[in-house]
Amino acid sequence: MDTAINSEASQARNRPEVGKMEHLAWPTRLAEVPKEVFVRPDIFEAELNRIFYSNEWLVVGHQAEVPKNGDFKTYTLGKVPLLITRDKQGEVHVFYNSCTHRSTQIETATRGNRKAFNCPYHRWGFAATGELIGTPNRPGDFPESFDRKDYALRSPHYAFVHGLIFVCLGASPPPIEQYLDGITDQIAAALGGDGNLVLLGYQKVIYRANWKTFADNCNYHAGLLHTAFRLLNWSGGKGVQTANARGQRGHTSEISLPKTTELLNDPSIISLRSHSDAQKGSVNVRFFPLSGISRHMDSINIRFANALSLDETEVHYAYFARAEDSEELIEHRVRQASNLLGPCGMVSMEDAAVFHRVHVGSHTPGVAVFLKGVTDANTMPDTFGQADESANMPFWEYYRALMGFEREQP
Ligand code: FES
Ligand SMILES: [Fe+2]
Repeated sequence: MDTAINSEASQARNRPEVGKMEHLAWPTRLAEVPKEVFVRPDIFEAELNRIFYSNEWLVVGHQAEVPKNGDFKTYTLGKVPLLITRDKQGEVHVFYNSCTHRSTQIETATRGNRKAFNCPYHRWGFAATGELIGTPNRPGDFPESFDRKDYALRSPHYAFVHGLIFVCLGASPPPIEQYLDGITDQIAAALGGDGNLVLLGYQKVIYRANWKTFADNCNYHAGLLHTAFRLLNWSGGKGVQTANARGQRGHTSEISLPKTTELLNDPSIISLRSHSDAQKGSVNVRFFPLSGISRHMDSINIRFANALSLDETEVHYAYFARAEDSEELIEHRVRQASNLLGPCGMVSMEDAAVFHRVHVGSHTPGVAVFLKGVTDANTMPDTFGQADESANMPFWEYYRALMGFEREQP
């Protein structure tokens, strides 16, 4: 596996918890989730500390988003601002997007290219390596002990896997290979083998729903909710779904082209052209807690998702081509990417409305329940049908354990 780890996180986080979380009764049955977790503000605050700022590895970018020296991207995890840079030597870094003087957010653009980063407050300047390269003070202004070297931008832990950038905001992350155990082959397959990608562009959306509703999106609903899926008689090919103990899911299936295309004025949108990787089928990877990769037909899509607030989830759908693609294939990928599976894609656009309706409905008492692929045994299944919602159960078990919710005794 192609990995590299920055183990010298210069400022590991260890935040005190905000507020106190009230008791939550977690049902005995593994296939039931209390609706309160989607709507309680105290639980959202605790999630930031116990999941987002803890020892989980979270996906924040891909190196192809900063292809040239001097390129940068900003991103937010929970409420923590990050700055991802590529320095003059071509090395990619992740920093807290916060000045080491008085903590001002240094960069506000989402992407760009800079020779240096300038803090607007007192004009300290930082290189893409994080180094403090300039302070507008006269001799004697600062304490004698002041040394620029002590004020380089701080970094969380970060690691690279096939070009994907993972960040851990906690103090002691597990080794990344161990964390991703069981899904690394699917990551490689989803990114076309080696992660050698070229960024095409983004669609960005804020869903009016709790982040776990986005994370909980199952395979059961595709042909039932999505009208175009049904009208095109797009049943999907044979496939398998996997889930590991951290609730990370993989789904691999053959690609089965729709049996009818006359509904579309321009059926070329759903044609299959990149035979070298598309023949291997469609691959989806869902990371814990909520980002993912989807390679379907000729579309290579990484979904960078963040829990913005209790009832808002921001998702950046980033679309990619392969480095060796022809101009014609790139154009096709752009058309397919933006029209097929994004937040307003023809076979997925209903998700936004349903996420919001799940959120509205979750303000009622009781539990949400999984049934498709679930048995009465109340044990964690270890195999999943490709359209089963039972594959979401390991996510919830891992979530429950991280959050410290006790199951009620039968
Ligand atoms: S806060 Fe950045 S220079 Fe003062
Ligand atoms: Fe969907």
